[in-house]
Amino acid sequence: MGKPYLLPLIALIISPLCGFVQSGDPYLFFTWNVNYATLSPMGVPQQVITINGQFPGPWINCTSNNNIVVNVFNNLDEPLLFTWNGIQQRKNSWQDGTLGTNCPIPPGTNYTYQFQVKDQIGSYYYFPTTALHRAAGGYGPINVHSRNLIPIPFNSPEAEFNVLVGDWYSKGHVTLKKFLDSGRSLGRPDGVVINGKSGNEAPKWNLIPGKTYRYRICNVGMKNSVNVRIQGHTMKLVEIEGSHTVQNVYDSLDIHLGQCNSVLVTADQTPKDYAFVVSTRFTKTVLTTTGTIHYEGSNIPASTELPAAPGNAPEGIAWSINQFRSLRWNLTASAARPNPQGSYHYGKINITRTIKIVNSASRGEDKLRYAVNGVSHTDPETPLKLAEYFGVSDKVFKYDLIKDEPSADAEDHITIAPNVVNGTFRNFIEIIFENHEKSIQSWHLDGYSFFAVAIEPGRWAPAKRANYNLIDAISRHTIQVYPNSWAAIMTTLDNCGMWNLRSVSLERNYLGQQLYFSVVSPEHSLRDEYLLPEGQLLCGIVKDLPVPAPPPPPPADA
Ligand SMILES: *[C@@H]1O[C@H](CO)[C@@H](O)[C@H](O)[C@H]1NC(C)=O
Ligand SMILES: *[C@@H]1O[C@H](CO)[C@@H](O)[C@H](O)[C@H]1NC(C)=O
Ligand SMILES: *[C@@H]1O[C@H](CO)[C@@H](O)[C@H](O)[C@H]1NC(C)=O
Ligand SMILES: *[C@@H]1O[C@H](CO)[C@@H](O)[C@H](O)[C@H]1NC(C)=O
Ligand SMILES: *[C@@H]1O[C@H](CO)[C@@H](O)[C@H](O)[C@H]1NC(C)=O
Repeated sequence: MGKPYLLPLIALIISPLCGFVQSGDPYLFFTWNVNYATLSPMGVPQQVITINGQFPGPWINCTSNNNIVVNVFNNLDEPLLFTWNGIQQRKNSWQDGTLGTNCPIPPGTNYTYQFQVKDQIGSYYYFPTTALHRAAGGYGPINVHSRNLIPIPFNSPEAEFNVLVGDWYSKGHVTLKKFLDSGRSLGRPDGVVINGKSGNEAPKWNLIPGKTYRYRICNVGMKNSVNVRIQGHTMKLVEIEGSHTVQNVYDSLDIHLGQCNSVLVTADQTPKDYAFVVSTRFTKTVLTTTGTIHYEGSNIPASTELPAAPGNAPEGIAWSINQFRSLRWNLTASAARPNPQGSYHYGKINITRTIKIVNSASRGEDKLRYAVNGVSHTDPETPLKLAEYFGVSDKVFKYDLIKDEPSADAEDHITIAPNVVNGTFRNFIEIIFENHEKSIQSWHLDGYSFFAVAIEPGRWAPAKRANYNLIDAISRHTIQVYPNSWAAIMTTLDNCGMWNLRSVSLERNYLGQQLYFSVVSPEHSLRDEYLLPEGQLLCGIVKDLPVPAPPPPPPADA
């Protein structure tokens, strides 16, 4: 404990009175019993993870500033964690539920997450981050509504539907994990599910003729982008991951792994049934599942002729990039801004750091691994955040194993180690994702929204900044990177914590394609980060260490 850098770290700890909770704001309490059940998402019985008997899991329907309390009972036979994908957890990576921030909840025990949702009016979802549990379900929708004083830029729909779509494997998560642990790949998914169902079981939504409905569609899948389209109907895009968009009308939308889009659909066609089509993108074999939009009072089945998907690769990629470019943030919409520290004039802020992220794969020692700039992340037994907080990070990981500009050979050689980047507090950073491979990538950042300023084919160079959208790019949390293409995002590192940047592809993520940003307040001020919550699970080498003592209170001008 006598480390020279321990003193500033001690200052991170705050008195219990300075917890995260804003006492005047309402609380929503959830008790979740997480179990295995036998269900048939693809028509074949298999082991699925349910929450309170449900798959998808219970809906977290909340309003900005609500305090969310989720008491999770892990009745599985393996350790478990959930993350709240896209919920920013300001100053509070303690609740982020990744293996870099939290000790997993042991089987047969319960643990309570507590966090406050802020002004991120939009559509999100949660999922289990441990093992390959996501392949067994355990996911569910999160909606954050606007408080009444903040209007949203469209009329209230007649009803809202959460639609969690994604590819699916009918082999259980245990078998899939064995594949990856033994060096094999997951292979192709077996199908697509909509809200955990497919075939005749797929969802049917009843619409009243003439009314308008909001569909909140998230791609919770493991490997593939999907395209979503509805027979005979267009979709008016209104929200992406907490940003209200310019309300363009689309025949179909590509939704990549980990992304959420809200669209308005008006029942303005001849009353009958219409297919709601979800199909995989850029795959040799296209997997398709259809739900049904049913006009109340009608009894004419949907036509069996499905609307065509946009072209596959390579033309389809140009189409999809064009669609990305059409996504714009509605700057006049008066809803709350997703970035509380106010970087929405982001085009005028000088970039303080550029980090280029290049994904790679290797079969070193006959085992498939995936990496970021040559480092394939592995989760140490002691979560990174806890190691840092207790002042023992030197026993657990090294900062900055990767370079901001990866060396040319970073793709040829892969090192397996915890991958932690020291992110300087309040730096305005640019991250370039360069994909040198033939498959599409999707990247998600915890703790932040970022401006998705550009996606282009080829390699990035500084001159490409001239092509950035510096006016009305969408502020979001997940971005796709097409094969042999790059994508650029910008964000202000104004949220202290340990934040996961991950490939949303389950196998790539599990096999190391992720890293963490450590963002520490230089003054270790309680204004910038909450203290270790009471009752936080401890494990690894911090298990029996004394919790560092509280620091002096923050200055009066806090
Ligand atoms: C979801 O939450 C919003 C905001 O609190 C509320 O207006 C709406 O009625 C809720 N929906 C349901 C079905 O409970
Ligand atoms: C476990 O659940 C009980 C209620 O059944 C609750 O009182 C307790 O605080 C929970 N423990 C944790 C660590 O969340
Ligand atoms: C943006 O939001 C404003 C305010 O709600 C709305 O009136 C306008 O139609 C929206 N603009 C576009 C292009 O969607
Ligand atoms: C940004 O950088 C330019 C060129 O170095 C400089 O002139 C300008 O003052 C900087 N702007 C801000 C807001 O720091
Ligand atoms: C992280 O970066 C900051 C700012 O450059 C520096 O002061 C700090 O010492 C670094 N921390 C570590 C653990 O390397």
